[in-house]
Amino acid sequence: MKTVLITGGSSGIGLEMSRHFARAGYRLIWVSKPPEELAAAKARLITEFRSVAIDTLSKDLSLLQAAREVYDWTVENGWQIDVLINNAGFGSYGFCNEIDSKKELDMIHLNIVNVYQLTRLFLSDMMKRNDGTIINISSNSSFQPVPRMNTYASTKAFVTHFSRGLREELKLQGSNVRIMTICPAAIQDTAFKVTGKMEQVKTFNGLAFTTAKEVASDVWKNFNGGKDFVVTGAKMRLFYLLHGLVPYRLQQFLVQKETEIEKGGK
Ligand SMILES: NC(=O)c1ccc[n+]([C@@H]2O[C@H](COP(=O)([O-])OP(=O)(O)OC[C@H]3O[C@@H](n4cnc5c(N)ncnc54)[C@H](OP(=O)(O)O)[C@@H]3O)[C@@H](O)[C@H]2O)c1
Repeated sequence: MKTVLITGGSSGIGLEMSRHFARAGYRLIWVSKPPEELAAAKARLITEFRSVAIDTLSKDLSLLQAAREVYDWTVENGWQIDVLINNAGFGSYGFCNEIDSKKELDMIHLNIVNVYQLTRLFLSDMMKRNDGTIINISSNSSFQPVPRMNTYASTKAFVTHFSRGLREELKLQGSNVRIMTICPAAIQDTAFKVTGKMEQVKTFNGLAFTTAKEVASDVWKNFNGGKDFVVTGAKMRLFYLLHGLVPYRLQQFLVQKETEIEKGGK
């Protein structure tokens, strides 16, 4: 039985991606924070896929030692991780000088340091086996600076560049290990916008929003023989094609409009 480890697998796009892997007979391993959320999501998935094997670990991945503890836990249990999905992440909204810096530092630790650490730990085993896939969930915000979501967009710029660069390094070394970089547009129906206090931000109903189901289905399709760099959501793919042709000032005008608060919001 193949095994997929999904951080943040118990909600949002993590849960939707889990459904594809469960349907294909994978064992699921989830790591995220509240044990109650993990247990409730596990119970829900077992009612959908009766024979699915799910193991969960409650862990705050923004802590420096967390990635090592996750890795050691999988080794102690004798699980070979065939697919690692670095999906756990959150965002923040507002001007950098006004946002609580502790919150942003936690975000930098989760979105960057933890992704780097988990990738390094599991990559080393995958390289020994010359087999395996790491899927890093980045964002369309990684394509250009995004005022009001500046630190978040910058964390995702790291994820996009690190993951695409790593893919090239592995090719140079003739490795079969695969690194996928996923860049979803704003997702309308996950907790992300609530956690990041962005419910009223236009982009979640804006030019190119997408849904958790659409993102998960793009990931699954491309995992099974598609691209390594995936811009998810049909509308966002069109914008990404045009992106290189649009002057920086116009890009900024559009991005700043998209990240304004909706009329009537606060
Ligand atoms: N929603 C969007 O518009 C959007 C767009 C582009 C990219 N993304 C990226 O997509 C990924 C998934 O987000 P989503 O939209 O599916 O939102 P979500 O439902 O809020 O999922 C985020 C997941 O990350 C986990 N997580 C957050 N902080 C954690 C921590 N400190 N330790 C362990 N787990 C933690 C959450 O679990 P807990 O409940 O345990 O905190 C949750 O399962 C994120 O990396 C996000 O940046 C989202």
